[in-house]
Amino acid sequence: MSQIESLSQIEGKLNNLSLLANENINNAKSDSELDQLRVSLLGKKGELSIILKTMGKLSSVDRPIIGQKANLIKINLQDLITERKNQLISEAIDKQIEEEKIDVTIPSTGTLPGNKHPLISTQDEIIDIFCGLGYSVENGPEIESDFYNFESLNIPKNHPARDMQDTFYLDENRLLRTHTSPVQIRYLKNNPPPVRIIAPGRVYRRDAVDATHSPVFNQVEVLCIDQDINFSHLRGTVLTFLKTFFGDIPVRFRASYFPFTEPSAEVDVQWKGKWLEVMGCGMVDPKVLEKLGIDSEKWTGFAAGLGVERFCMVRHQIDDIRRFYTSDLRFLKQF
Ligand code: DAH
Repeated sequence: MSQIESLSQIEGKLNNLSLLANENINNAKSDSELDQLRVSLLGKKGELSIILKTMGKLSSVDRPIIGQKANLIKINLQDLITERKNQLISEAIDKQIEEEKIDVTIPSTGTLPGNKHPLISTQDEIIDIFCGLGYSVENGPEIESDFYNFESLNIPKNHPARDMQDTFYLDENRLLRTHTSPVQIRYLKNNPPPVRIIAPGRVYRRDAVDATHSPVFNQVEVLCIDQDINFSHLRGTVLTFLKTFFGDIPVRFRASYFPFTEPSAEVDVQWKGKWLEVMGCGMVDPKVLEKLGIDSEKWTGFAAGLGVERFCMVRHQIDDIRRFYTSDLRFLKQF
């Protein structure tokens, strides 16, 4: 029960409450602390209510004085709590800004510029040289049919030449091309001679991996068909190309055999005192042209297939073909 108290006693209590509340609110460290203070000071059963209950016996003159004072204190404390809440929010933001400060003056680590893979730059260089000789670049599919990869190139089923190339077959008819030579046929089918094209691209063979073999590697196919083309044109073109690419380096032609050229040759360059084969070539076999409906009495030509890895290895003194495919940045950054 409330006690009967005098006006000045109640005023004194209100003043004390206000003073203490001010201090507590200003010292509050969190939202929830302020909410608790609001309840304990201003709530239905809060300290202000408790004091107000004691004014029941005051005179009708004194009561409104206390009522007014209590109201002012209530409004003042509410404002104070809101103010303190806002203050806490901005303190938290300031703290976060301070903690998350980024020093924009620290020098950046920079981004690593990409550079061309040595095989690509070698291929580009080969392409450049042939483009300078009047050739244009053609492409063909890596998934090839038995017909284009073998049959049309004079390599029928059961022909011993198929043993030379162990093949990744996808099904009975489709395979991963074992060389870029099928691009010759695809191109000639749609484009009548004269023809001067090169076809760079990936080829696939079921070779075990070692320092000089990889199941995937790159070739550039060369095809020239025109009137009165003979072996000396082939030889001249190959020598011009090799001289442009390597500079003065010993070169030799070795008689060889390919089912789609007659005569055929392999070309070696001398590297580290040894002969290293860098391409196969030959005069396009008339049978290949006739099958395409091209008059082999009128049109003759030569073809060649270059191993890009070999050219790149000689150019950069790389002794292991596996280095090209392992994506080792320490290796790749040198180019
Ligand atoms: N296709 C042959 C191979 O991969 C290389 C080749 C030899 C291509 C003679 C030719 C050529 O165009 O005339 O082994």
